[in-house]
Order: sequence, then structure tokens, then C-alpha cells
Amino acid sequence: MTTLVNPIKYLGNELEYLKKVLEGESWSATGGSWTNTFEREFAKKLGLKYAVAFNSGTSTLHAALEAAGVGPGDEVISPALTVIMDTAATIHANAVPVYADIDPETFNLDPKDVEKRITGKTKAIIAVSLYGLPCDMDALLKIAKKHNIALIEDNAQSVLAKYKGRLLGTFGDMASFSFENTKHISCGEGGMIATNSEKYAEAVRKIGGHGFKNLRAEEGRVRLNQDVFQSPHYKRHDVLGWNYRLAEFNSAVALAQLERVDELVDLRMKSAEMFINAMSQCDYLIPQKTPGDCVNTYYTLGVVYNGLEKKGVSWEEFRKMYISEGGDGVYGAWSVPYLEPVIAERRFAGRCPWVYKNVRYEKGLCPQAERIQPKIMQFKTNYRDLDLAKRKAAVLEKVIKKVSAK
Ligand SMILES: Cc1ncc(COP(=O)(O)O)c(C=O)c1O
Repeated sequence: MTTLVNPIKYLGNELEYLKKVLEGESWSATGGSWTNTFEREFAKKLGLKYAVAFNSGTSTLHAALEAAGVGPGDEVISPALTVIMDTAATIHANAVPVYADIDPETFNLDPKDVEKRITGKTKAIIAVSLYGLPCDMDALLKIAKKHNIALIEDNAQSVLAKYKGRLLGTFGDMASFSFENTKHISCGEGGMIATNSEKYAEAVRKIGGHGFKNLRAEEGRVRLNQDVFQSPHYKRHDVLGWNYRLAEFNSAVALAQLERVDELVDLRMKSAEMFINAMSQCDYLIPQKTPGDCVNTYYTLGVVYNGLEKKGVSWEEFRKMYISEGGDGVYGAWSVPYLEPVIAERRFAGRCPWVYKNVRYEKGLCPQAERIQPKIMQFKTNYRDLDLAKRKAAVLEKVIKKVSAK
């Protein structure tokens, strides 16, 4: 029987774990254990030594940049086709965003363009693996090593994706993940930094945890010795930090989701496959190219739409047809970050005027990203029932046939 609605998200231990948090004494990671357990299990899943939980996949990026020593006036390279958060985190660190262009087939960073944008001020590269597809990690690692700069993986959209048989998260100095509402693993809002480096794990934990001096790479509890901690003479803070901690409620839900992550990822991959099959005979819908040595875990299915040129049907018209036949909303890709008003109109410059005095971005900076961005359609893969996905893919096939007959 075909389901008409997507099944609920909490099909595992979410409710049971939440209740246990409510019944416990500590609802914060500073005294609790759910966050710590989630961190340990997440690190184990990736085969890494450390994982530090955060309240978003943006606070992770900010903390990672700070931990990598990025500061006022330094430059951070990120792709021109991604969400605003990579730019925002860079500016939060008072650094200058530098945009590299993308490969129009994979939508990910073009390493050759990355190399061109490196200057004496470059301190880090944020490698976003878009829509679930790994970046060309070998090429980016080579560049990072050659220029002695940090490589930060932004895997918000690419949980369990693989590059040459190896899980994403295991390549860069640090890897960032997001557990926001739409992600493979979700607890409403949340994030994680995973790393093999004790130095970075401790640094990001302190940066995200008010700079408490007794925080260590392994765990986020701060009141380790009550007699010492409760003394009026105790000095607590030795670095400047933010409060980026993940609450125990979120960790409990995320832990339950992590227990089912293979299944959750598999559902998205199988859903994407159905949509790719539905468009296999169509010459104006071109799915993101997944190289043979990569596993794409399809946070969403990104497709280049050429229907206006080939069939005289606009992006908006095609979307409307799909929805009116019973399809789910198709999303466009976010504007290239530097053409968003906050960046294009320099609305960030006042926060650090001496750094941003001469920083300006203009149309034409990354031509491939600017050309592809308005053509992208993101098809939903977040189906928790494959019959439902099949029904939606059939709707797409029907619309394609209609448009092709024009
Ligand atoms: C590629 C990418 N980076 C960073 C983020 C930021 O994550 P969050 O929404 O958890 O702050 C997102 C989430 O939307 C994302 O897709």
C-alpha cells in the first residue's frame, strides 16, 4: 500500500531517551552524560578519536576557524556555491571570505581555482561537500599541505559519504557536521566537530564552552571537583569562548538518530536513485555528477535544469507543473554568498572596519557558480517510506514526458 505522508521522524529511541534526560538532574552537557555519549558514538562511527558537540553546524565552523588560528585579516577560502554559513563563520572570526569557483558537473570546489586564490594571508580552506557528494579531497589536501594551511571539512550535507573508500570527516584537520532539521541526523538544531587531533578537539571544546580552563578533548563536563569549583578563589576561564554547547535533550535525540544513521542515509540514497532513474531519458535535467570513486549520500538530489533552453519551459513553470501533479516542492540553490545583500552591500564591514576597508565582491567573481546556481533544482530525498518516494518519482517522470512532448 502506498503511503501519502512521510512517516514520523522519531522511529527509534528518541522518546525514551528524551524522557530519561527529563528525569535526570542535568539538562546541560556541563553536568550530563548524553552529550558525551553522543560524542563518543559519533567519533566511533567515523573511526576518529574525538568528537565535540555544538549547537549548530555554523558554530562548529566558527570554532574550527578560531581553533585553526584564523584571526583578523586572515583569508579563508570557501566555495561560491554553498549556504551563507561558511561565509558567516569566516566573518565571525574577523577573517576575509575568499571565494573559489566550482566544477559545474559536481558542484564542488574546483581545486585549480582554489590554488589560484591562495595568497600569503590564506589560513584555511573550508571544503563543503555539497548535497552529499565528497569534494576532491586528495587535491584539496595536497594544496593545504603545500601551503601549510588548515583544511576544514564542512560535511553538514554529507554524513557517511565516502571518497576513495574512506569516510568523509577523516581527511581534514577538523570536520564539521550539522544536525539541523533537514539533515541526515537531526535533533532540530545541532552540530559536531570530529577530529583525530587532541589539540584541536580541546581547543574547539573550550571555544564552544565559555573557555573553561578544565575542559579537555574528551568531555564537556566542567564541575569535575566540587570543592575546587565552588571556591570563591577559583579562576575558571583561560581562553575567550562562546556558549555553543549542545543541550542534553538535543544530544539524546541525536544519539537515537545516530543509532539508525545507516538506515536514514540508505533511505535518502535509494530515494535519489529513483529520481535519477525517472530523469534518465531526459536531456534537460542533469543530476550532480558522482565520480566513480565517491559515495554520494544525497542530502538532496541536485540537478541542473536546462528546460528553458531545450523545451522553452522555465524553471518556475516546471516546478509548478511538478507540484500540481502531486510532486513535493523543488528548491532552488541559495544565491552565491557574495551576491546576498549582507555581503554584496558590505553590511558586515562595520564589525572590523580596518580589516574590511577594501573588501568588496562583485558579480563575475566565480563565473561557473553564478551560471549554474539559478539552474539548480534540489529534489527532496528525505523520504522515510520508499513507496512514497517511488510515487513522487513517478510524478516527475509523468511531468518529464509532458514537457518532452512539447
Ligand atoms: C553546507 C552547510 N554548511 C553549514 C550549514 C550550517 O548548519 P546549521 O544550520 O546547523 O547552522 C549548513 C546547514 O544548513 C549547510 O548545509
